[in-house]
Amino acid sequence: MDINTAEFVISSPKVEGCPNSLMPEYAFIGRSNVGKSSLINMLTGFSKLAKTSATPGKTLLINHFLINKQWHLVDLPGYGYAKRSKTEQEKLQRMITSYILRREQMANLFLLIDSRHEPQRIDLDFMNFLGEHGVPFSIVFTKADKLSSSKLACNIQLYLNRLLQEWEELPPHFITSSETRRGREDILNYIEQINNSL
Ligand code: GTP
Ligand code: MG
Repeated sequence: MDINTAEFVISSPKVEGCPNSLMPEYAFIGRSNVGKSSLINMLTGFSKLAKTSATPGKTLLINHFLINKQWHLVDLPGYGYAKRSKTEQEKLQRMITSYILRREQMANLFLLIDSRHEPQRIDLDFMNFLGEHGVPFSIVFTKADKLSSSKLACNIQLYLNRLLQEWEELPPHFITSSETRRGREDILNYIEQINNSL
């Protein structure tokens, strides 16, 4: 799929403030700093569309981007950033949870996992929460450029094996790098397939 246009629409502090449109949307979630905003820029090919930062906690609102005037990409704040106050963490958690559970236009949630790390409890718990609520999601392994290909393959196999301890069936998964643009076609084709099936 070609991306012809990508426009910022609105940043919302609450799900009630999100665009009042029925277009399908695809949201990105995961720990702070995992690479959500960078992935949106890589997928669209517009390097400054979503705000990125080397320090965690950059994205604090629900950000909608309109793609090809037909569907939305949604950049969400990250979870699990320990240096936030408890009140702030809880506020973000509520924002994320209400978006995920109430936004009916959300056709798929991409859950990002840093491919360098071992499975983390916080991400596994998050997946269980998605499963319990029947939220359609897929996994995106990020920052693949930071590992050798053998280490990357090994980490991903370990991760999938870990998931099979808790899940009967694995969700779709993608391997990406916002630096090399690896995984771009796979994710865009996946989105196109879902768009066509709606
Ligand atoms: P929050 O909004 O704070 O939750 O973070 P985020 O998940 O949106 O992460 P962001 O895209 O801002 O990226 C965090 C840092 O990781 C930045 O310094 C990016 O340049 C870097 N980064 C993101 N993706 C990649 C990648 O694929 N490869 C490499 N090498 N660096 C990456
Ligand atoms: Mg971000």
